[in-house]
Amino acid sequence: MCGIVGYIGHREAYPIVIEGLKRLEYRGYDSAGIALFDGNDLKVSKTKGKVADLEARAKIEISNTGNVGIGHTRWATHGVPNDVNSHPHVSNSGELVIVHNGIIENYDALKQELITRGYTFQSDTDTEVLINLIEDVKKKENVKLGKAVQVALNQVIGAYAIAVFDKNKPEEVVVARLGSPLAIGIGEDESEFFIASDASPFLEYTKNAVYLEDEEMAVIRFHKGIKVRKIKDDTIVPTYVQELQLNLEQIEKGGYDHFMLKEIHEQPKAITDTYRGRLLRNEAIIKMAGVEDNMKRFLNADRIIIVACGTSWHAGLVAEYIFEDLARIPVEVEYASEFRYRNPIITEKDIVIAISQSGETADTLAAIKLAKSKGAFVFGVCNVVGSSIARESDAGAYTHAGPEIGVASTKAFTTQITVLTLIALRLARAKGTISSSDFRQHLLELEMIPKKVEEALKSDEHIKMIADIYKDVRNILYLGRGFNFPVALEGALKLKEISYIHAEGYPAAEMKHGPIALIDENMPIVVIATKKGHYEKVVSNIQEIKSRKGKIIGIVTEGDTQVRELADHVIEVPETLESLSPLLTTIPLQLLSYHIAVLLDKNVDQPRNLAKSVTVE
Ligand code: M6R
Repeated sequence: MCGIVGYIGHREAYPIVIEGLKRLEYRGYDSAGIALFDGNDLKVSKTKGKVADLEARAKIEISNTGNVGIGHTRWATHGVPNDVNSHPHVSNSGELVIVHNGIIENYDALKQELITRGYTFQSDTDTEVLINLIEDVKKKENVKLGKAVQVALNQVIGAYAIAVFDKNKPEEVVVARLGSPLAIGIGEDESEFFIASDASPFLEYTKNAVYLEDEEMAVIRFHKGIKVRKIKDDTIVPTYVQELQLNLEQIEKGGYDHFMLKEIHEQPKAITDTYRGRLLRNEAIIKMAGVEDNMKRFLNADRIIIVACGTSWHAGLVAEYIFEDLARIPVEVEYASEFRYRNPIITEKDIVIAISQSGETADTLAAIKLAKSKGAFVFGVCNVVGSSIARESDAGAYTHAGPEIGVASTKAFTTQITVLTLIALRLARAKGTISSSDFRQHLLELEMIPKKVEEALKSDEHIKMIADIYKDVRNILYLGRGFNFPVALEGALKLKEISYIHAEGYPAAEMKHGPIALIDENMPIVVIATKKGHYEKVVSNIQEIKSRKGKIIGIVTEGDTQVRELADHVIEVPETLESLSPLLTTIPLQLLSYHIAVLLDKNVDQPRNLAKSVTVE
């Protein structure tokens, strides 16, 4: 999704904004731009392409002096990705400049009105409409920039995070948010301020930040501090400065070629961090504040509805198997985007679990707002601390995976499953649906998962060799059963998104209801066939593939011989409980996708058309 960076203070704004934009590249974008006040005039440089292209262009178009600047990476919504549609956008007078994330839904009506008032437009964007609306209000009502932004935003329907400044008053920047995140870094002595979509662009300068809430705006004045107000009624909001726990090393590649590979290898640590302090094996208990504090609600719930998108939705599907199996609570798993628009039946006895790595996914956020409005209790499972979904939820549990920069989710998936397993086990214990010895066995096995993930990662070279054999195929089928059916979906998604090879995940037994027609000697099929997961049935499915000459890549339990005899290749994972096996079987699938994408020379960390967090619907 789009990214915003801004600076106002005593330093040169240019390098801070450009380096900040590079830190936001992971969000996914197709063009980039920067606006600076160079002491005399407003300078804007923008281009389709990457931040590196912007740097080349900016070198010619703008001098890099100046202490106030805003920058943007754009992920196209209104208007194709090109130079003109890139941000920043300047108002008709040439005085005001804006960067914007989000979508102004009523932009066309506003634009027509502005046209009748003599405004002209260069781009196809909703953002250019917004900056001219702000200018129109400012002139018509003869008000300061902050007031003009406030009045204009009250006419807008949609979602936004914006940063705006006036070249005639470059000592102040106005920012606002509704539905799209925005953080303000507070420099030493409040003498400088950083603006960004997340804190990563300003981590080396300050650990103190103010996160705007929805429907809030702030006027940031050089040397004078920030004033936060409600957009709706202008009431002053006390500023709450948070100390960030994030380190710079956490958002760097640390010697790996790609963030995705780094994050795949971080999984043993990430999973450990997820259960640390929660899984207390010696005492044979699971402690999770969000669950303990709301135990009554959980125990009285008629059902759990899980809402999520993409990989998080797959983690939700795994959780459905785990919750129903261990805690005997009925679970429904919904795409947040469907749930929010289909008039679902929700009661006060429902618990809605929202899963989201970023905590900013627009559809998931809307789904939980809907659920709350109908009286359901909302429990958030997020990775990003203080994110919108985390704040909007009634209670929750963080995954503690650390920053995930690669667009393809990896450690987010396994840590989400870990948190959800802990919750299911805790509820199972409270409900008495699990015996004490089974419970202990689960704790023991869960604690051993990080070591076993390390083992699974050792197949890397072998997987790379398999990737080389299949990198040029057009389609791959992924099959799994039970707990591993969602892993098949996740494996297919990973491959699609970073290698652009068409892939489908299916429950293994569903193959004969359609996909089997696709199988011939050119079709590779990845089959998850671990020992405890309906093994014999899956072996029969493998036989069916074999007799149609399909190429079989089996994900098997260590020491397996039966599938080895039938498959063209096998990748072993250590043995564990069936309910925990997705935490291991997913590892080779992540590596397979990664190596295929690298061999095809694809942009692994920033695949085309994709955004890390989808903050528009
Ligand atoms: O931040 P979220 O977990 O809410 O994101 C949901 C999806 O957009 C995300 O999982 C997406 O599918 C990833 N690119 C998958 O790798």
